[in-house]
Parts: sequence; structure tokens; C-alpha cells
Amino acid sequence: MMKREILITKDGSPTIEIAEMNVTYHSIHGAVQESSHIFIQTGLLPLIELKQFEIINIFEMGLGTGLNAMLTYEAANKFQQKIKYNAIELFPLQEKEYTLLNYAGKEIILQLHESKWDTDIVFNRYFSFHKTNQSLLGFSTDLPFTLIYYDAFAPAAQPELWTEAVFSQLYSWLVPNGILVTYCSKSTVQKTMKAAGFTIEKIPGPPGKREIIRATKPNK
Ligand SMILES: C[S@@+](CC[C@H](N)C(=O)[O-])C[C@H]1O[C@@H](n2cnc3c(N)ncnc32)[C@H](O)[C@@H]1O
Repeated sequence: MMKREILITKDGSPTIEIAEMNVTYHSIHGAVQESSHIFIQTGLLPLIELKQFEIINIFEMGLGTGLNAMLTYEAANKFQQKIKYNAIELFPLQEKEYTLLNYAGKEIILQLHESKWDTDIVFNRYFSFHKTNQSLLGFSTDLPFTLIYYDAFAPAAQPELWTEAVFSQLYSWLVPNGILVTYCSKSTVQKTMKAAGFTIEKIPGPPGKREIIRATKPNK
């Protein structure tokens, strides 16, 4: 197991660093700032505003700290939008790690980490949660998703998670008009997404990141 350490980012919120892999779970410029910009503002809110989906089914690649899930839980309650949140995580944080994550919604973070694997957990009338302890590679699902938070480590660290085969699979899991958001805007990744069928939009990124990607499955 590689050594993971807590790192405090520039907005004061914590993240995890794996020095050996040269990765952090979020931007060092601000973990909460980055997650809310990319996944909530760019991914979730436009879908909520459409008022088209009674339930928004989210798939998150890499539950990690649970921060994206916590912010999504808060948005579900604030906007009274029903959300089914499905997350996959191959290397879950241990208790001694997640208990150190001092996010504003710490109680929720604990509940996310302590909830049972492979079980639908109803948090309240707006938010239910299901987590799976396996690799994205080889994972299959019948559930169509409305929104994918693609939050794998960068291509330099994990190239096998940024291939056309992976994006074709993600594409097949989305409903028409469904979207995938990611922090990674490398041109090779954009090409790979296009080859898998996605329509790409470049959106200004959070501090420290010029642009991020919103990829839509066209309604053919
Ligand atoms: C950038 S971090 C995710 C950060 C997370 N979304 C958060 O809010 O804290 C990438 C995550 O993907 C996980 N991971 C790495 N390889 C994986 C794989 N093949 N399948 C599923 N999860 C994987 C890592 O353990 C890590 O938690």
C-alpha cells in the first residue's frame, strides 16, 4: 500500500497526497473550491436547472475522500433534487485517514465511509448512496447514469483509465444528453473522448487550472 498523507490546500480544506505517485486527490489550490467548481457547478447544477430528471443518477469514478459526494449531498438538499449517488473506489481510505478530514460536512463524510459496500443506503428523501469496492476496469452496470464525475488520477499516473475503451464504456452507461465532467483537459484526452462519441465543451477551470471538460452524449 502506498503512503497517503493529508495535505491542507490553499482554501484551507484538506486533501490526500500520494507522493510516490506524484498525485493529490484534489487541486492544491483548493480542494473544496475545485470540487464545487468542476463537479457541482459545471456538472450537477446545469442538470438540476433543466428540471427534466426526477432522479439524477450519478456515477463517480474514485470516491477518495468523499468530498464530491458530500458536496453533492448538500446540493441535493439545497435544491430538493433526488439524487442516487454511485461511487466506485478500489483503494478505500482507512478509518485513521478519513477521520482526519475536517470538511464542513464531517458527519456526512463519516457516514459515507462507514456505510456498507454494495448496498443502497438512503440518507434522506433526496440522497441515496451506493459504493462499490472494485476497479473501474472490469466493472459493469445496468443502471443508466445521468451524470459521471470522472475523477481518476491523471493520465500520467494512470494511463489505463484514460483510454478509448474506458470512455466508450462510460458513454454506453449514460442516458442521451447525459454528461461527464472531468478536471483533465489534455488534448489527447479530448481526442479520446471525441472518438468514443462525446461532444466536448471546454469550460474555464477553478484557480490554478485554465480549463476543464464537460462531455455530453448527444441525443442522436
Ligand atoms: C483523484 S482521486 C479521487 C478523489 C475523490 N473524488 C474525492 O473527492 O476525494 C482518484 C481515486 O481513484 C481511486 N482509484 C485508483 N484506481 C482506481 C481504479 N482502477 N478503480 C477505481 N478507483 C480507483 C483512487 O484510490 C482515488 O481514491
